Amino acid sequence: MNIRIFATPQEAGIYAAAIAEGVLVSRPRPVLGLATGTTPIPFYEALVNLYRCGLDMSHTITINLDEYIGLPPDHPQSYHDFMRQHLFAHTNLRTEHTHIPNGMASSLQEECERYDRLLHDHPIDLQILGIGVNGHIGFNEPNHLLLARTHVVRLREETMRSNARFFASMDDVPREAITMGVQSILQAERILLLAFGPEKADIIAEAVRGNVRTDVPASILQLHRRVTVVLDAESARGLPGAIR
Ligand code: F6R
Repeated sequence: MNIRIFATPQEAGIYAAAIAEGVLVSRPRPVLGLATGTTPIPFYEALVNLYRCGLDMSHTITINLDEYIGLPPDHPQSYHDFMRQHLFAHTNLRTEHTHIPNGMASSLQEECERYDRLLHDHPIDLQILGIGVNGHIGFNEPNHLLLARTHVVRLREETMRSNARFFASMDDVPREAITMGVQSILQAERILLLAFGPEKADIIAEAVRGNVRTDVPASILQLHRRVTVVLDAESARGLPGAIR
C-alpha cells in the first residue's frame, strides 16, 4: 500500500482530486466509485474546484458504495441528498450517469442484483473509500465473513452511534443499509482510502499494518495491487516511519 500523509484534510483532498482528474481525462467513459460521510468532503470540494477550472465530467459515470434503507432520496440524511449537495449539483455530471443504491426499493434483493449488474457493466476505474472507526469500508461491517457482492447489512451499534451525529436522535438512525460487497470494491482498478482525524488513527494502523482480518474489513485492501492510503497528520499517528 502506498501511504501519503498531508498536513490537513484539505491538502489531502486536493491530492485525491488530482488523481481523479488524471483518471477522468485519460478515459472516454471513466467510472468513479464514490463514498459519503465527512471524510470525502474535502475531495469533493477540490473536484468541484477542478470542474470550475475546466474539468469536463459529462462523460463520467459515478457509482456510490451504499445507501441507508428506508430513507427517500430527498431525505436530508440520505446519501442521494449528500451527493447532490457535495458534488452532483456543482458539476456537469449527468443525472443518468450517477448511481446510488435505492434504499426504498420494494424488493431489496432485486435492487442488490441490479446494482451488481451495473458494477459488472461499468468496472470502476477509481474507487474512493472512507473507513469506519470499526474498520468498515462501504458498509461492510466487521464480521466472521465478508460478503462479496451487493447486499443488505444490519449496521453495527458503533456505526449507528457514529452516524447519530447527523440525526436528531439515535432512534432516527437507520439500522440497515445496502452496500457494495468487498469483491466489487477490490475489482476497482485503483483505490484511494481516505482517513482524517485522531479517531481514525488506531483503525488505520490496524488496517494498514495488521493482519488481513474480516473483523477489520479495510485490512483486505492490503491484497489489492493499487491502493493509496491518504491521511492527515492525525490519522497517521499510529504509523511511525510512514512515508511523509
Ligand atoms: C459511506 C461509507 C462509509 C464511510 C465511513 C466513514 O459511503 O462508505 O464507509 O466512509 O463510515 O465515515 P466518515 O467519513 O463520516 O467518518
